[in-house]
Amino acid sequence: MKLNMEKIVNYAKTLGFVYQGSEIYGGLSNTWDYGPLGVELKNNIKKLWWKKFVQQSKNNVGLDSAIFMNPDVWVASGHVGGFSDPLMDCKECNTRHRADKLIEDYTNQEVNAGGFSNEELEAYISQHDIKCPNCGAKNFTDIRQFELMFKTHQGVVENDQSTVYLRPETAQGIFVNFKNIARTSRKKIPFGICQIGKSFRNEITPGNFIFRTREFEQMELEFFCHPSEDNKWYTYWRDFCFDFVKSMGVKQDNLRVRNHHNEELSHYSKATADIEYLFPFGWGELWGIANRTDYDLLAHSKQSGERLDYLDQKNNERFIPYCIEPSVSVERLLLAVFIDSYEEETLDNGETREVLHLHPDLAPYKIAVLPLVKKLGKKAEAVYDLVSKEFMTEYDTSGNIGRRYRRQDAIGTPYCITIDYDTLDDDTVTIRDRDSMEQVRIKISELNEYFNKRLKL
Ligand code: GAP
Repeated sequence: MKLNMEKIVNYAKTLGFVYQGSEIYGGLSNTWDYGPLGVELKNNIKKLWWKKFVQQSKNNVGLDSAIFMNPDVWVASGHVGGFSDPLMDCKECNTRHRADKLIEDYTNQEVNAGGFSNEELEAYISQHDIKCPNCGAKNFTDIRQFELMFKTHQGVVENDQSTVYLRPETAQGIFVNFKNIARTSRKKIPFGICQIGKSFRNEITPGNFIFRTREFEQMELEFFCHPSEDNKWYTYWRDFCFDFVKSMGVKQDNLRVRNHHNEELSHYSKATADIEYLFPFGWGELWGIANRTDYDLLAHSKQSGERLDYLDQKNNERFIPYCIEPSVSVERLLLAVFIDSYEEETLDNGETREVLHLHPDLAPYKIAVLPLVKKLGKKAEAVYDLVSKEFMTEYDTSGNIGRRYRRQDAIGTPYCITIDYDTLDDDTVTIRDRDSMEQVRIKISELNEYFNKRLKL
């Protein structure tokens, strides 16, 4: 069964994954807070990404660069003056719309208007009589470009000299550190730099829950290679990312790769592919993989006056490396994983249970310790102390055991340990598997060995 977005938002809130931001003040639109389960799920996604992209890669290293950067960075990258959305106002109801999104929604995502010029956007909207989605009128203003970077001021004086931006992508922090890392890490081309961090965009049409927000966390790799090898590495990382999403348990039928047409390519890109997921609102971009060529290093070299080329000592060749960039946000991956893992299952006895079949690496809690009755609490606490040293574990005593199993199914806990009266006699416990609901009886002393074989992260 597929979830609709309203149900997802309610489910995520009721169980403690994601709450409306600033809720007690009536909220702040498009802000979301991650609750006790959401923060675990987010952290697990980041850990898994870091493990695959940094820990297990001989080529890649990590970085944590500052959010505030010298404003010249954003001039060189093309963001100042160039990072904006085409905006139209409805003259009847005063609502604001992104022109490319109006077209994409009108054509049910059949037309990708990302690469249209303002003239082309206006012509398409008028030729197809596209209406305001809010009031149905066909009375739009001309397109104006809307700056997407958040601006603020550094220090006590608020003037043009003190302007700083909240970064709209983490990538630029990597490019400006290329020289430092090439020099200090002893990595030889091809090598990659990975970063996880917050990015901010003053999106005009945020929405679909956490799909498009103004504050989000990106996981980006900038992979530097010889220009003659760019196609090889572009294909390599596109396939690598696709396999990574599948390895998180996302069903292949809900995934596809969409190659960008030439006219939709960003100014810096020679080739781009999106890994898309079939969200309840349709196919949406999950992960972008771009061949950024030497655009960024060249631009920063010009702007800063620093040489950002690379000397291949073996071949005595100097060149500006090309860069392949897989970029995804934690929130989009979380949304895809969350939706994909949900099942409303009809059991043999006719009852239904809601279950999140989350990959064990991603599950917020790996184990729940459940004493059958409160009287068994002391023994159960000892079991909790034992397993929680190694695994994220929940301890739950409230409600009957059936309801507690259902709660753990609903939040995706792969294993429940039940402590019953026999535990007091023989030091054994029951382990219940979330997906099969099968139960096995094992000794407390063997618990950590049992789980270590099944839980990796
Ligand atoms: N450095 C390249 C870059 O930022 P992008 O296509 O603008 O490229 C890359 O963004 C990825 O970041 C997207 O595929 C998506 O996963 C995520 N992303 C972008 N904007 C987002 C937003 N407003 N909210 C959540 N995630 C976003």
